[in-house]
Amino acid sequence: MTRLPGTAPTADSARAVVVGAGVAGLQTALVLRRLDPRREVVLLAKAGLAESNTRYAQGGIAAVVPPRPGERAGAPTGDAADSVAAHIADTLAAGAGLADPHAVSVLCHGAAAGIDALERAGVAFDTADPANPAAPADPGTTAALARGREAAHSAARILHIGGDATGAGLVDALTAAVRADAGIRILEHAFVTRVLLDGVPGRGRAVGVEVTMERGLEQIGADAVVLATGGAGRLFEHTTNPDISTGDGVALAWRAGAVVADLEFFQFHPTSLDVPGNPLVSEAVRGEGARLVDADGRAFMTDHHLDGDLAPRDVVARGIARHLSSHAGSNSGPDSGPAPSGPARPRPGVRLDATALGAGFLARRFPSLTALTALHGFDWASDPVPVVPAAHYWMGGVRTDTDGRTTVPGLFAVGEVACTGVHGANRLASNSLLEGVVFGARCAAAIAAGGGEAPRFDAEPLDLEAEGTPTQSFTRRDLQALMSDHAGILRTEAGLDLARKHLASYRADTDPEDANLLLCARLLVHAAAARAGSCGAHFRADQPDAPPGPPAPSRSFVHAARASRGTP
Ligand code: SIN
Repeated sequence: MTRLPGTAPTADSARAVVVGAGVAGLQTALVLRRLDPRREVVLLAKAGLAESNTRYAQGGIAAVVPPRPGERAGAPTGDAADSVAAHIADTLAAGAGLADPHAVSVLCHGAAAGIDALERAGVAFDTADPANPAAPADPGTTAALARGREAAHSAARILHIGGDATGAGLVDALTAAVRADAGIRILEHAFVTRVLLDGVPGRGRAVGVEVTMERGLEQIGADAVVLATGGAGRLFEHTTNPDISTGDGVALAWRAGAVVADLEFFQFHPTSLDVPGNPLVSEAVRGEGARLVDADGRAFMTDHHLDGDLAPRDVVARGIARHLSSHAGSNSGPDSGPAPSGPARPRPGVRLDATALGAGFLARRFPSLTALTALHGFDWASDPVPVVPAAHYWMGGVRTDTDGRTTVPGLFAVGEVACTGVHGANRLASNSLLEGVVFGARCAAAIAAGGGEAPRFDAEPLDLEAEGTPTQSFTRRDLQALMSDHAGILRTEAGLDLARKHLASYRADTDPEDANLLLCARLLVHAAAARAGSCGAHFRADQPDAPPGPPAPSRSFVHAARASRGTP
């Protein structure tokens, strides 16, 4: 076994490996070091430490927090009537009947302590003028936190940083803290190819990882392996996720024999800017009053839901997708808008109209988006900008308890890669950064306390190999086109069947990230085909109605040849 110098596993090894450097991985590493200062943490980042899904989060972090020092009692900047119970109710409602009430309670009750810890770690949330909560205050005029509103939240409770740069603000502060800790060994450009087990998959315990780095393939031993690898937005043609979001954690855990769950539920964000790369346009913009309009300038979301532009995310994304498919395709195509530095031209399709908010407010509240839209040739203070839904967040993932434990002893998962059940069939806006903060800290505490026993979850054995013999090579674009056409926002039984057959014929013998994407695609399509009717983000255009009664319970799967851990 080739090992990093000084990292060979030993019986009394006190080392954890954290795979992924978004908010969940950074938080896990930092809290683990605080609780167990004698333990070494090896933090692996597939790209540079600065690159993660978290960096692109704009709107903020949902949290009901008590008034801050300096905030006048009785005049909070948010909704005076807001409560943790209301945050719980909103999260459960968004989850379409499948969110796990215990996980939701843990998340929402953990928010205030999580925010407090972030502030102590150096994170500076935006403050506001209590008399005018929408307006960020001049620095130093008040200690009250600014609280924004987003879809399907019953109160303004979204904390943010730099107006619309919350993810960047978070990772910058947490990355600085990680870099300052000599007990955290940071390895960048380190791609994990395997979870090491001390026995056969399905029976073994995780004892480290195999990792490809510039200097070659190495193995790092550890008594706890934490997957914090984020999502798999690169499964689809349009995504708000960065290049590195290739489903690595789900693929690694599956091969190690872990149970996965809720994989049919993939959230599409309604508004990415319809330019190459599909950068996110935060829901907070609609929260401040922007409207989705058609080519004639008509606000059409009230055709789809009473809450109009602030309807649940899946409803809005579907409303746009349907509008685009019934009105001559999409915003994209040969005439797909201005060159990055050219002038904006009018186009058919769906736009986000933020003009009523005014240039001054937009520049102050959304400085990054103001710069981004300008970079692409749009003046969003004067004209609506073209938007298109884009794959954004996978509710499903590696099944864990609320302390991050997977069904494989010694293997943990936190953040988007995990499925605690907290999001059910549809995640509430701005609950994902919170998820990384709260469950990252809990996972760290569990590891510091000795790890505990791996949970056991009911899971159906799944034998993907039985679906056919792979015969043809594929490109990532082939896979993305197939997934977008048949397993994206609108699905049908025939489309899922066709996708399943094509995916089974693809040979995963080239790029390891593409192999991970292919495995994730097959798991997602299998889970989607197994769920009849529509529920949350899983929408069957041929069965648009939810089946009568409560939704069919959450479904879990485990590799058929590695099933012994998964089934009680
Ligand atoms: C956004 O700013 O709209 C994204 C927030 C989220 O995904 O929760």
